[in-house]
Amino acid sequence: MNKDCRKAVIAGNWKMNKTPAETTGLINDLKPLIKNAGCDVVVCVPYVDLQTALECTQGTNIKVGAQNCHWEKSGAFTGEISASMLKEMGVQYVIIGHSERRTYFGDTDLTVKSRTRAALDSGMTVILCVGEYLEQREQDITFEVISTQLKIALDSVTDKELDKIIIAYEPVWAIGTGKTATAQQANEANKFIRHLISQLYNKDAAEKIVIQYGGSMNASNADELLSQPDIDGGLIGGASLKTEDFASIVKAASV
Ligand code: PGA
Repeated sequence: MNKDCRKAVIAGNWKMNKTPAETTGLINDLKPLIKNAGCDVVVCVPYVDLQTALECTQGTNIKVGAQNCHWEKSGAFTGEISASMLKEMGVQYVIIGHSERRTYFGDTDLTVKSRTRAALDSGMTVILCVGEYLEQREQDITFEVISTQLKIALDSVTDKELDKIIIAYEPVWAIGTGKTATAQQANEANKFIRHLISQLYNKDAAEKIVIQYGGSMNASNADELLSQPDIDGGLIGGASLKTEDFASIVKAASV
């Protein structure tokens, strides 16, 4: 499969970090460092920072994403935000199914599917996260887990809509732990995902889909991870909050 037909995407997942004022500072520091990026750059910020991020990134190559969305357009869902609300603001990307949502906030494969549907119906690009827990890797069921997560999430997604899906393979044991998957482990999982896409859709779709790796990617290991044939970018947590580090990762994805 030819990597050249895909443009890498480096997305920062800020998680529950940064106030609106801090968002302005971080994005303004980042802008000059990544202005010549040869990959797509996205910052996925907390809901309350979205407006600020959209304003600060106007006219730049930085795109803005949210970290979740609800599956209904509106209604009695206290504390939730709908995909159509995000879309109307100008938000282009949304992370769905992050393991922290699955672990701490009760997201399931079925809610991930509904959220994905809603985001696509609103015209946003979904960064769809999948990945196994350490126990699952130790039981040698990593591929079964990823396969189930993807089959359910993509159940209603058409060939055409797949253009608006980015898959992020994030082994849960590597997130925020400083324990990165080896480049070989990460590529093996991404390759498996690409093969699954060719089975669920077709070879062309598999060749085109962007599959990121996420989990303690940083300025030191990005080069090796991003040079793997099936790793098309990264979903970056901790290192996305440090402008120099994030810019180094963008640079590593730009070659
Ligand atoms: P990390 O987070 O880079 O801090 O491990 C990645 C993620 O949760 O998307």
